[in-house]
Amino acid sequence: KIINVVLSGGVGSRLWPISRQKSPKQFLQIFEGKSLFQYTVLRNKKLVDDYMLVTNESQLTMAVNQSKELGVKIDKKIIESVGRNTAPAITLAALSLAPEDIMFITPSDHMIGDEKEYKLAVKNAIRLAKEGNIVTFGIQPLKPETGYGYIEYDAEDVKSFREKPNQDLAIKYIRSGNFCWNSGMFCFKASVFLEEIKEYQPDIYDTSVAAYANSQDGFVAKDDMEKIPEDSIDFAVLEKSRIIKMVKSHFIWSDLGSFDSLISYAKDFQNDELFQMMKGENIVNSYAMCSKPVYATRGIDHIVLIEAEDCILLITKDKSEEVKQIREFAGCAD
Ligand code: GDD
Ligand code: MG
Repeated sequence: KIINVVLSGGVGSRLWPISRQKSPKQFLQIFEGKSLFQYTVLRNKKLVDDYMLVTNESQLTMAVNQSKELGVKIDKKIIESVGRNTAPAITLAALSLAPEDIMFITPSDHMIGDEKEYKLAVKNAIRLAKEGNIVTFGIQPLKPETGYGYIEYDAEDVKSFREKPNQDLAIKYIRSGNFCWNSGMFCFKASVFLEEIKEYQPDIYDTSVAAYANSQDGFVAKDDMEKIPEDSIDFAVLEKSRIIKMVKSHFIWSDLGSFDSLISYAKDFQNDELFQMMKGENIVNSYAMCSKPVYATRGIDHIVLIEAEDCILLITKDKSEEVKQIREFAGCAD
């Protein structure tokens, strides 16, 4: 069986103040009335046999309600009382499936365009997964972004994987031309993933096995979760495994992590509803997400204004990665 394992754990802190603990970015229904989570479920509907949710308690209700709105019932669940990042999340999911099941892991907070190319890539990935590989999806990189994983490739073969390199390395990778960004989606047999995590991260494997054995209806207790070392699949497995393949992907992809990428998305997908251009003379590259018209004086340049229910965020466009810090400064843990 092919199972779409949908990961939802993050809070989207770089999209504060519209993304909050109570309504994280993947559940915001701001994309023509639907959320990124809902688009994830819809785009995979015809490609998989079943879904599995791996999430925490507070996001579970949102995920269940929003899939119901689509007429999709998700029975398979792993509920983490505390998140330990993606390596434990995926290990717990793998332990709950049959060894031969194909896991198609997707984040719940990405936007993808061009369904046809997407389907082709997923079918290719499933074929390679059936052959016993750990499959990644490579995205043509656009800039030396340090928040992504980089895949060094030669056709389908992966020569090396480097998660979140520093700026100098990222620049080197982009210049060399044979690197792709890692999309954050993966495809493999449950048994193959478990062998890899057991080999490279025996601690994560052992503690996850124990935690899963104690779980009830997919709910993993806090004590058990806290014993599992925290790590992402990228650092824990992808940087080490020798059985990785890459499917070069030609669909439009955005992880919508920051307001900058949200603005690029709005341009690429011609979504005019998300942002308004500020009104005035000689205003360059400035955007507002606001319920009222925004007027500005001449010379306003690369400014982004975001209105939430309880506050307003004002940033320069090139500083959109720093919103995380502003969120902390605002003392906003919600
Ligand atoms: N269930 C669960 N539990 N989900 C989690 C947890 C957790 O503890 N931690 C993260 N997630 C979910 C997030 O909600 C997101 O959907 C997905 O797993 C990936 O986690 P991120 O925290 O967003 O990872 P990242 O963006 O830093 O990096 C990954 O994605 C990049 C592309 O967007 C990596 O795979 C990079 O290599 C990749 O380039
Ligand atoms: Mg992400």
